[in-house]
Amino acid sequence: MMDITNELLKFVGCEYLATSKIVESGQRVVYLASNNNDPSAKFVLKTCPVYPSNVARIQRELKILSEIDSKYFPKPLHSQFITDEDLNYFVDNFDPKTQGEKINEVLSFNLRPFFVTVEEYIEHIPINDYIVRLKTEDTLIQYLLNVFEALNLLWEKKIVHRDLKPDNILVRSDLSPVVIDLGIAKSMRDGTQVITSPFSSSPCTPQFASPEQLFNSKTEVTYKSDQFSIGILSYFILTGEFPFGTIQDIGIEDYMKSLVANNIKKINDLNSNLSESLQTFVHKLLSPQPYKRFRNYQEIKNKLEEMRG
Ligand SMILES: Nc1ncnc2c1ncn2[C@@H]1O[C@H](COP(=O)(O)OP(=O)(O)O)[C@@H](O)[C@H]1O
Ligand SMILES: [Mg+2]
Repeated sequence: MMDITNELLKFVGCEYLATSKIVESGQRVVYLASNNNDPSAKFVLKTCPVYPSNVARIQRELKILSEIDSKYFPKPLHSQFITDEDLNYFVDNFDPKTQGEKINEVLSFNLRPFFVTVEEYIEHIPINDYIVRLKTEDTLIQYLLNVFEALNLLWEKKIVHRDLKPDNILVRSDLSPVVIDLGIAKSMRDGTQVITSPFSSSPCTPQFASPEQLFNSKTEVTYKSDQFSIGILSYFILTGEFPFGTIQDIGIEDYMKSLVANNIKKINDLNSNLSESLQTFVHKLLSPQPYKRFRNYQEIKNKLEEMRG
C-alpha cells in the first residue's frame, strides 16, 4: 500500500513521500516521510480517506494547527486532497497496451479519495522512559506546567482536545511535551458534531476519558474533560496504577460505577514520597463532577507555580 500511495503522491506532484509506516489506526495511516528537496529531514505524513464527515475533521485539525504557532504542537507543512479525478488520471496515465498488468494492479487496490497532511517530525522519547523520568515531583510539576500551557492554547480557542493520553502527548528528550492528534478536538463554540464516540476509537482511550465523555453527555464535555485525562495520566505516572481501576480488569460497567462513586485510592497510599499539595492537585483534576475541577488555566498555573516554589 505504501508503494502505491507514493506513486500516486509523486503523480500528483507532492514533494513528500512515505518512507515507512508508523501506525495504522482505523481509517488513518501515519507514515514517516521524506522530502526530495531536503533528504536528511524527517517528516510525518498522514493519510485519511475522504468521507463527508471526515473532511470537516481534518480541516478542523489543520485549521487549529495552522493558527497555533507553538513549540507544543507540530508545525503543519503541507496538505492535499487526492480526489476521484486524480485517481482517474493516475490510472489513465498507464498505457493499456503495454502496462495492462500495472493497471490491474492499481485497480486491485480499489483506491478511494483521500487526504494527505504532512507535519514536522517530533523527536521524542519512548512512553515508558518518560513515565519513569517524570516520576520525580519537581519534574512532573514542570511537565504539567508545560502541558497545561499547551492545552490552554486550545482552550482559548474554545477547543477541547478530548483524546489526551500518552500516545497523543509526545515528550522530547528535555521532557517538554508536544500535543498531537487533534482529529477529534471539538469546538465548544460552533457545536460541531462529535464524530467518534469514545468506544469506537482506540481501545485504551476510554481509560483516559472523563466520566462525562464515557456517559456521552456531550454538552458537558469541555476543557474540564481534558483536565480529567491529565489527572489520569499524572496519577499513572506517580503510582503506576489507574485511579479507578482498569477497564480491562473490571469491565466498562464496573469501571463507570467506580468513576461515579469516586472510588479512588489516595495517591499517598501508593506513593508515600509525595507532597500533600501535589496529591490534592491531581485528585482535583480527577473529580468526577466537572464543576469540582479547576475553573480555568490561570488557577491551574498558579497552583503548580506555588508548588514549584
Ligand atoms: N509529528 C509527529 N512526530 C513524531 N511522531 C508522530 C507525529 N505525529 C504522529 N506521530 C506518531 O504516530 C502516532 C499516531 O499519530 P496520531 O496523530 O496520534 O494518529 P492516530 O489518529 O492514529 O492516533 C503517534 O502516537 C506517534 O507515535
Ligand atoms: Mg493518536
